[in-house]
Amino acid sequence: MQGLAEQVVIVTGGAQGIGRGIASYLLDRNVSVVIADKDVEAGQEWAAECNKPERLLFVETDVTDESSIKSCIAAAINRFQRINALVNNAGIADPGRSPIEETSLARWQQIIGTNLTGSFLFAWSLEFRNTMRGRCKKNQIIEKNY
Ligand SMILES: NC(=O)c1ccc[n+]([C@@H]2O[C@H](COP(=O)([O-])OP(=O)(O)OC[C@H]3O[C@@H](n4cnc5c(N)ncnc54)[C@H](O)[C@@H]3O)[C@@H](O)[C@H]2O)c1
Repeated sequence: MQGLAEQVVIVTGGAQGIGRGIASYLLDRNVSVVIADKDVEAGQEWAAECNKPERLLFVETDVTDESSIKSCIAAAINRFQRINALVNNAGIADPGRSPIEETSLARWQQIIGTNLTGSFLFAWSLEFRNTMRGRCKKNQIIEKNY
């Protein structure tokens, strides 16, 4: 990942786990990072511990909710004036842990809504596309859920 210095990257689900690791990696390379995560406690804790607070913005965001995504994008633009890339990392990582007979339809829909629709929704958001267009040579969207 060369050439990212001074860019602005949104990391969904970046308050903990793999997403937090990605955010740390980017911050170490002088990237400004917007953490879009629904876990407020973990997000605020991460923001408080970060040694580059000027480069980190936590925004409470639910990737299954289009209005929440729009608010996150607006907050990112307000703080950093641009968005260069999106890491679609937010997800529920346990679909394989329960046998099908113990998986409720509601749980299944929550997993699909987060891991698939959530990733689509963030990338698809018109505001996001308008934000990316014309500001970087090539759209940069990294998918964790595949
Ligand atoms: N851990 C693994 O072995 C593994 C393997 C394959 C894929 N993945 C994928 O990698 C990603 C990260 O996994 P992890 O192990 O770090 O998981 P994790 O549970 O540690 O972290 C996931 C983060 O996503 C956030 N999140 C969940 N739903 C959200 C929503 N609706 N809106 C915003 N944020 C939301 C959580 O609050 C959490 O901070 C997931 O998408 C997961 O499916 C993980």
